[in-house]
Amino acid sequence: MNYSDIHSAIFHWYQYNGRHELPWRQTDDPYKIYISEMMLQQTQVKTVLERFYFPFLERFPTLQSVADAPLETVLHAWQGLGYYRRARYIHQTARLTAPALPTTPEALVKLPGIGQSTAHAVAVFSTRAPLPILDANVRRILFRFFAQTKATPKALWQMAWDLLDRTHPYEYNQALMDIGTALCTPQNPDCPACPLKSACRGQNDPLAYPAPKPKKARPVHRTHYLLIEKGRHILMQKREGEMLSGLWELPSCSLEPKGCEKLFEIVHDYTHFRRIAVIWRCETKSSEGEWIDADRLDNVPVSSLERKIFAKLFETDTD
Ligand code: ADE
Repeated sequence: MNYSDIHSAIFHWYQYNGRHELPWRQTDDPYKIYISEMMLQQTQVKTVLERFYFPFLERFPTLQSVADAPLETVLHAWQGLGYYRRARYIHQTARLTAPALPTTPEALVKLPGIGQSTAHAVAVFSTRAPLPILDANVRRILFRFFAQTKATPKALWQMAWDLLDRTHPYEYNQALMDIGTALCTPQNPDCPACPLKSACRGQNDPLAYPAPKPKKARPVHRTHYLLIEKGRHILMQKREGEMLSGLWELPSCSLEPKGCEKLFEIVHDYTHFRRIAVIWRCETKSSEGEWIDADRLDNVPVSSLERKIFAKLFETDTD
């Protein structure tokens, strides 16, 4: 299929409507583009832009500076962004590749935390290689454009390659991300304004593509957090394992603790479940962990939930 009309419509749309001012669109430094793509994997543009991209790059201006730093400081710079595995991957990637990140998709995809789409994004945006990107926004556009209710990952990649503008891959891919954010939105697509409208097969019933998923109820986990104090010090433990590994938190347990004073509850939502955190003040002598000076809590990496807990304990703002 020849999509040259659509390609030029997308190209022109991008010239007038694209978010050219996004800082990762004003550089061809693969490291800065890589950091933006890792942050944007699970975090919205607005949040990344307003709170994380610039401070992270100020603290770690080069890949070498990440490689030279201990993991703990990278986690600290990532604090509040969530999905901390990404910070560990960045640290591993820096140690494997510093001083220079590779820019071929074959080399990029072998690195920890870089899937096919992120590999293509870093390659296209730093070298203008003709490769398609397949993130959640682009996927939705493809489902609608080709009027598909469901598709395997392989079929989606095939569609992505079919539609790709090989002449202007940079503008094409950035434009699709903007179109997915501004026009081809999940709930209220603005089809009349869309540069793909001349051939989009889904525009008469865009919400039918992909077929809506039945909503699953999010499981609720109740976790008890223990505030154990010694003077100005608070007992904290370093998390290990899959989730939030490397971050510090109050000691916790799944059963209600005995002989403690209940302080308050906090509801915290993750993507796949909801946590109800119950905070207790406990007097106990035997305990595992480290005593952290309450005035120095800012110096240890903690999760967003933990920050909420401390904000409430000390009645300060989280932001
Ligand atoms: N999400 C992932 N990559 C992006 C980019 N380059 N611009 C805007 N949003 C994005």
